[in-house]
Amino acid sequence: MSFLNGKDVLDGAQFTRDEIDAIMALADDYRGQLGERRGLDLLKGAVLAALFFEPSTRTRLSFETAMHRLGGSVVGFASAESTSVAKGETLSDTIRTVDQYVDVIAMRHPRIGSAREAAEVANAPVLNGGDGAGQHPTQALLDLYTIRQERGTVEGQTIALVGDLKNGRTVHAGVEIYKHYDCKLICVAPEALRMPVEVVERLRARGFSVEETDSLEDALRRADALYMTRIQKERFADPAEYEQLKDAYVLDRAMIERLRPDVTVLHPLPRINEIATDVDALPNAAYFRQAQNGVFVRMALLAMVLGAA
Ligand code: NCD
Repeated sequence: MSFLNGKDVLDGAQFTRDEIDAIMALADDYRGQLGERRGLDLLKGAVLAALFFEPSTRTRLSFETAMHRLGGSVVGFASAESTSVAKGETLSDTIRTVDQYVDVIAMRHPRIGSAREAAEVANAPVLNGGDGAGQHPTQALLDLYTIRQERGTVEGQTIALVGDLKNGRTVHAGVEIYKHYDCKLICVAPEALRMPVEVVERLRARGFSVEETDSLEDALRRADALYMTRIQKERFADPAEYEQLKDAYVLDRAMIERLRPDVTVLHPLPRINEIATDVDALPNAAYFRQAQNGVFVRMALLAMVLGAA
């Protein structure tokens, strides 16, 4: 049985290299099996609660799809307005209640640390689908999976993380995953949206190569994989500051063709305008395949935490 049996998935930093590799291998296995049939019945009778207190398209729907493909079923909500949260119920009480009904909980909430709070009161495993500007470990795992899939390996690759590295939870989780591999990171952000300095220092202290720049062009010339992100509007206290920064980086086809024609382009999505739509037709635009990979990786995580793999 897996190391994740009965455990929570809260933070990219919780995994060892071997554990990440095991998740990747199981996701590969499910990808292969789904090529031959529509679904498996490993989790027949099991119920997932998908509790989304913040907007989501891919994370929620791919968790739900993953659960259905494994033969399980799903309850949940896509916004807190229709729940007792609107009457003033605390997160802890909502979670304690849902915990009476289901076998596993996937959740997203605007507060940093919310998934950990939920995990403290729930018996069921909690999978963090994003806690404010904190962590988003399942996304980071599917990002890694996509780089492996698209480039054959993560080893030796230079990965540029671009955009809102201060508020982006996918990149906060991502660096904790990438650090286990022999790859290099280039963090590309405007001064105000840099990767938190303590994160960069901690990575460097363990001998991991992290460069910082504010130039997308400079990074693109040297990158094997370009991980674009959205400026996280909902995390800005001052709307004028968002307006000033929102167009900081816009990647288009001409830039790719001029600077690095074989770069792999990733994005957790949703994109606003940081990738021009003329990039979509390039074979190296991996972001919709990346979304599909979310199903395989989340299948692996669900099966593991429920002791079915
Ligand atoms: C990301 C998120 O919610 O953090 N989206 C996702 O899960 N695919 C990225 C974002 O919203 O910018």
